[in-house]
Amino acid sequence: MDTFFTQEAFDNEGFCFSKENKAKNIILGALPSEEVRASLLAKKRKDRFFIINEVIKKNPYRVEAPCVDVPRCGGCVFQHYDYKGQLELKKTRIHRLFPEDKQNCLEIIPSPKIFQYRSKMDFSFSQNKSGDKFLGLTQAKGSGRVMNTQSCQLASLWASQVLKITQENFKASHLKAYDRSGEGDLRTLITREGVNTHEKMVILEIVAHQNSAFKKKDIDFFFEKLKELHKDTSCYLRVVQMIPKIPTQFYEMHLSGPLHIQEKLQIKDKSYHFKISPSAFFQPNSYSAQKLFEAIVDIVRPLKPLKVLDLFCGTGTIGLVLAPYVKSCVGVEINPYAIFDAKENAELNAISNISFVTQDAALFIKDNKEHFDLVVVDPPRAGLGPKTCQMLCDIKSDYILYVSCNPVTQANDVLLLKEKGYGLCHIQPLDQFPHTNHCENIILLKSKDCQNP
Ligand SMILES: C[S@@+](CC[C@H](N)C(=O)[O-])C[C@H]1O[C@@H](n2cnc3c(N)ncnc32)[C@H](O)[C@@H]1O
Repeated sequence: MDTFFTQEAFDNEGFCFSKENKAKNIILGALPSEEVRASLLAKKRKDRFFIINEVIKKNPYRVEAPCVDVPRCGGCVFQHYDYKGQLELKKTRIHRLFPEDKQNCLEIIPSPKIFQYRSKMDFSFSQNKSGDKFLGLTQAKGSGRVMNTQSCQLASLWASQVLKITQENFKASHLKAYDRSGEGDLRTLITREGVNTHEKMVILEIVAHQNSAFKKKDIDFFFEKLKELHKDTSCYLRVVQMIPKIPTQFYEMHLSGPLHIQEKLQIKDKSYHFKISPSAFFQPNSYSAQKLFEAIVDIVRPLKPLKVLDLFCGTGTIGLVLAPYVKSCVGVEINPYAIFDAKENAELNAISNISFVTQDAALFIKDNKEHFDLVVVDPPRAGLGPKTCQMLCDIKSDYILYVSCNPVTQANDVLLLKEKGYGLCHIQPLDQFPHTNHCENIILLKSKDCQNP
């Protein structure tokens, strides 16, 4: 065991470290400006990874983490850091990413619920060389090893029960986890739920290959007890096929229960219902998703846009919540399952001024000839990149609303959009994922040619 004095700040991944010559000692479970004792876990190039054993001098924001897997689990990095401190840290990072515009940054919106808030969980199957089986989340800091997660504090009680039952089933079964050598079948256990409708879905993901040992009776074995846990669970088997030089294919098999789950969100004075297919994206914290969509309505409503384009629209959520305040909206999304849901969601909510297109967002804007007053973009973590930013500017919309789950790539894109004639009006950070290093961020940009005051 060694003694360390940690630096004053977290690193970009939310870890604390001490410096030794040019090397970094990363200490899982430490907070900034602490004196701690820790033991070595692993070495990677110049860096060494330690796990905390004892705190000698505490950071004033240190709290007791309720999860027994902290700090070993890679799911949460801040559970032992007071929530007010987490919000302050996320806000400061946004200020650093947008230094010229930090005076236009609004106060960060906290998540209404900070534990058991996730409506989707992905647990991985694994086993070691001795044959010990694991099902759960991955350990912090790159070992890639899967833990037998005990009681994740971000998952709902139901998801934790599903995990526990499946861990027991996995141990009792002859089946193995899929590994890169091409052996074993089981890959991921996914739980999804409508936290406001109490509807639940379980997806068991397996890998198809020549030596597969998975049989029909194995499906029954895995799902039997899960169905007892919650009547009307929507149950799916997802088969993944990985063939070298061919994009990975997914085949979904509906096993029993409803085809979809639904979620209900209250946005301002309106209640919305959303159908969600197993493969469609839906914001994984419904409590803060309501805050996100309300913040979007608050920003967009005063602009009075007539025509809106919602790129990367998923199941249509942003376009649907904006539709009552605009003349028309077009949603674009690459995932056909999500577009199928989006169309049904428009009907379910009696919204008729919206249409949806299944297409790559970049290809859609490349061929687009229509004028839009406002373009909403909500891309995956990789962001837009220079080509798509250029094509986005070619639309010549008055406003761009950029919603992002990765403010680092968002900051690069916003810099490009500013160079091409857009000015930044406001920044609205929002915490969708308490105890993790992630932060959602909304940015409104206005064209220099826009005539609106
Ligand atoms: C962060 S999600 C946003 C979904 C939606 N705006 C919401 O709030 O529910 C990003 C979405 O982009 C979609 N997507 C990923 N790559 C895309 C592409 N090249 N073109 C269009 N959609 C894409 C994903 O399938 C996913 O639904």
